[in-house]
Amino acid sequence: MLDQFLELRSSSSISLKRKIITTGDGSKTIQIEEWNEQYHSLHGAINEANHVFIKHGLIFFIESFPNIKSIDILEIGFGTGLNALITLLKAEALNLDINYVGVEAYPVHQDEIKQLNYVNQLSTNDTAFSKLHECSWESVHKLTPHFTLLKQQKLFSEINQKMAFNLIYFDAFGARVQPELWTESIFKIMYDGLKENGVLVTYSAKGSVRRAMQAVGFFVERLPGPPGKREMLRAQKRV
Ligand SMILES: C[S@@+](CC[C@H](N)C(=O)[O-])C[C@H]1O[C@@H](n2cnc3c(N)ncnc32)[C@H](O)[C@@H]1O
Repeated sequence: MLDQFLELRSSSSISLKRKIITTGDGSKTIQIEEWNEQYHSLHGAINEANHVFIKHGLIFFIESFPNIKSIDILEIGFGTGLNALITLLKAEALNLDINYVGVEAYPVHQDEIKQLNYVNQLSTNDTAFSKLHECSWESVHKLTPHFTLLKQQKLFSEINQKMAFNLIYFDAFGARVQPELWTESIFKIMYDGLKENGVLVTYSAKGSVRRAMQAVGFFVERLPGPPGKREMLRAQKRV
């Protein structure tokens, strides 16, 4: 089991102890012990990704716009690359072009990546997952026939793309530990980054988060949450 310290430069610079744990569906995640916070739901990392980001995000978008030929996705918190991997597999399965931008200020360490079991759990080979992590930051890489990846190492507050994305996977750590990431100013950046009729999905269902989204112009729906969670949120830039 990995047990190490990582310097996470948040607003207050703190050393955070991390370890790899197994979640309810057998897939691994990273736990930040001091925060009692995980990269994914304790009830199942893969289950959560499939429910929140794929079913209520990607599949919802495809069903809403069946004639769309290519989808631009922004991920808030690239982290372990789990959401990116599942999205890449969907792009190939559906013959749908996806351009994926993953923003991450504090990339996961190689020794942590090696301990994640997503390739086995998803019954795929490790080529795609390795490529996701081995490709360089700040350049666009065509990883498979239908999936390109751009990893950007920066803070979410530094995102400045406008009208660039169809879909945002908003997967920041919870508002309990990083309240500054669930504010009107961050959701304004997300709203401006979306194209018309763009969609943002997140696992959070907090009332304060919903109100911050509505305040910047989003139409917000509460949807059934993944295992272990009653609700989640989906926000749309309806123009
Ligand atoms: C919940 S985890 C993301 C999990 C990820 N989507 C996955 O599938 O593994 C949140 C991520 O946000 C990153 N992060 C935290 N604060 C950030 C900030 N201000 N700007 C950019 N990234 C940040 C963390 O390093 C972490 O990787």
